[in-house]
Amino acid sequence: MPSPFNKLKMEISGGSHEKCLSLTLEGLPEGRRIDAGLLRKFLDRRKSGKYAFSTPRREEDEVIFTEGLTDGVITGKIKAEIPNNNTRPSDYGYSATPRPSHADYVAVKKYGAAPSGGGAFSGRMTAALCIAGGIAKQLLASHGIKVLAYISEIAGIGCSTYDNGVPEPSVIEICHDYAYPVTDASKINSVDEQLRSIASEGDSAGGIIECIAYNLPVGLGGPMTEGLEGRLSLSLFAIPAVKSVESGLGRKIASLRGSDANDPFAYENGKVVTLTNNSGGINGGISNGMPLTVRVSFRPTPSISKEQRTVNLEKGENDLIKVRGRHDVVFLPRAVAAVESAVSLVILDCMIENNLI
Ligand SMILES: Cc1cc2nc3c(=O)[nH]c(=O)nc-3n(C[C@H](O)[C@H](O)[C@H](O)COP(=O)(O)O)c2cc1C
Repeated sequence: MPSPFNKLKMEISGGSHEKCLSLTLEGLPEGRRIDAGLLRKFLDRRKSGKYAFSTPRREEDEVIFTEGLTDGVITGKIKAEIPNNNTRPSDYGYSATPRPSHADYVAVKKYGAAPSGGGAFSGRMTAALCIAGGIAKQLLASHGIKVLAYISEIAGIGCSTYDNGVPEPSVIEICHDYAYPVTDASKINSVDEQLRSIASEGDSAGGIIECIAYNLPVGLGGPMTEGLEGRLSLSLFAIPAVKSVESGLGRKIASLRGSDANDPFAYENGKVVTLTNNSGGINGGISNGMPLTVRVSFRPTPSISKEQRTVNLEKGENDLIKVRGRHDVVFLPRAVAAVESAVSLVILDCMIENNLI
């Protein structure tokens, strides 16, 4: 199986309506202490109910460590489980009439049936990812590295973006407790109104999450397939519903001239910095010491109650569908922690590779 990691080994299994989600994570530095309270707080950012217009399915997301963490200290391969306590499989059954743009149709063709609640394709899998990501974030923080994300666009409403200057970490940390994790609080009311209107039509919304890693050393990554951008993409595209990953200015750099796109070097307090950061802290696949910036776009939730066209695979005819079950009108606020996780794990892997942790 392709992996974004050279040193870490991660496996996530289970499904939305199975007994539990499971995580195994191998290759972490032993002897490091993990703060259970901080990990809990991190996982709570992904839980439904923290933000409006998330799925009405409530889960405690209790984490049970079965191996590798003794009295809060990493002692080897970590094994953890999150029980699913609030399943309702009777709400689902999309093998005959697949939900447009969910994984039902491809699952029927590849595995014989569409798994209940989206199974391993469900956004619920990101709960297990966030256990690994929360641990990675803490290990990086103990080396002064912060990985933080926020929403820069939601339901078509543009909020502040790193294109206009990378915010201070505290600005992002505070925004995780706003009604929506956007760094510009003046946008919250219009976002709320827009989502209310979309929900009232039985529709859904997507958006863009930006992630910044502060205080990286120079030298993480390598050329070609060892490059940070490729490894970050592989990790980020593992999150369901991700449709693009951009590094730094991303596709906007394509229309600039070299003289505007280039990040000139300068000495600042004896340290080499770049005066702009259009390359997002990466040159030639290797971190250059500036903040690493990535932009991730997410599709709108595919399960909508608004009527859509589909097919009836049993009858071999065209059909209509109004999706039932419990779904996020927008899952972007919940996906912010998943993005931080995917990025943190790649950076941790590179730090271990460079013997820096
Ligand atoms: C945190 C999170 C929550 C999600 N919640 C839902 C949901 O409630 N309903 C749904 O249809 N899709 C939801 N999704 C998206 C689907 O899992 C995803 O669109 C689907 O598996 C198809 O994969 P693809 O969009 O990558 O092609 C969620 C995704 C994430 C990251």
